[in-house]
Amino acid sequence: MDELMASLRAVAEPTRLRLLSLCADSELTVSELTQILGQSQPRVSRHLKLMVEAGLLAKFREGIWSFYGLATTGAGAQLSSRLLELIVQDDPVVKRDLARLEEIKQARAEEAASYFRANAAHWNEIRSLYVDEADVEAHLLNLAGDQPIDQFLDIGTGTGRILQIFAPHVRHGLGVDLSREMLAIARATLEKHRLRHCQVRQADMYNLPMAPESADFITIHQVLHFADSPAAAVTEAARVLKPGGRMAVVDFAPHDLEHLREKRAHRRLGFADEEIESWCTTAGLEVLPTHHLAGTPLTVSIWQARRPGPTLN
Ligand SMILES: C[S@@+](CC[C@H](N)C(=O)[O-])C[C@H]1O[C@@H](n2cnc3c(N)ncnc32)[C@H](O)[C@@H]1O
Repeated sequence: MDELMASLRAVAEPTRLRLLSLCADSELTVSELTQILGQSQPRVSRHLKLMVEAGLLAKFREGIWSFYGLATTGAGAQLSSRLLELIVQDDPVVKRDLARLEEIKQARAEEAASYFRANAAHWNEIRSLYVDEADVEAHLLNLAGDQPIDQFLDIGTGTGRILQIFAPHVRHGLGVDLSREMLAIARATLEKHRLRHCQVRQADMYNLPMAPESADFITIHQVLHFADSPAAAVTEAARVLKPGGRMAVVDFAPHDLEHLREKRAHRRLGFADEEIESWCTTAGLEVLPTHHLAGTPLTVSIWQARRPGPTLN
């Protein structure tokens, strides 16, 4: 009862209801919210602080920025979703807020697209060295099976492509990456396709901001060849895998394209099956069959592992 009263008090104010409706649409920074509401930053920050304390909104940091979105657990989260049903979407103030939000999203998407364009040539160059990416994605989805996935995690999500293709099959999806620029593209993509059940967060794959045994299915797609310590990344991924949960690591089989190291910052020129399999076993996982998609000159491998436990889906 106390928790509910605190949440009700925290939201009983016009600006806070507007904040609720905006954060239900997208995860937004204080400066974006300030721009939309036309109020001073300290004032907006104070509203947000109270709403986070009351469990209505969740705050998460990305470098020096903080993002605000709807809370997903607790009494405050339940109250938010009930209130949102009652907020009238054609109210002139709500409509104006959402129109301004749309302008901000468009500006974000343009910024992300220009970063993507600047780097696209490098990415395309690497893609041309192996089998069609669509084949890899279809294979990966096929391995995941046809049962819905409850909590999906994509480590090193980059532009969020894997998150996007898994989205129709998951109840909740999270992509993590270190790069702000990549995450900006991922966010724009999720927004464009209105994938509200999927989010991205800035996080280090060696120190995931997640509880142990919280993910049902994890993907690490074309990330480990950049890693200083791929074994540690696999161990950290295994930590957050639920009993019965599965992980798929996609990367190159061993190759000798040294220029990828010099020009494209690859640390590892592919991985042998035994190497990845031994990291999985050491991390307490059972190894499942590996698949190889032979290309010229690079072969893509999909290694799979499972945390022992009852089947999840
Ligand atoms: C080649 S991209 C692959 C992106 C995505 N998985 C895909 O296949 O489209 C590699 C990604 O790994 C991310 N990355 C590298 N080191 C990382 C780390 N320590 N923690 C999280 N992400 C990392 C990079 O920022 C980059 O976005």
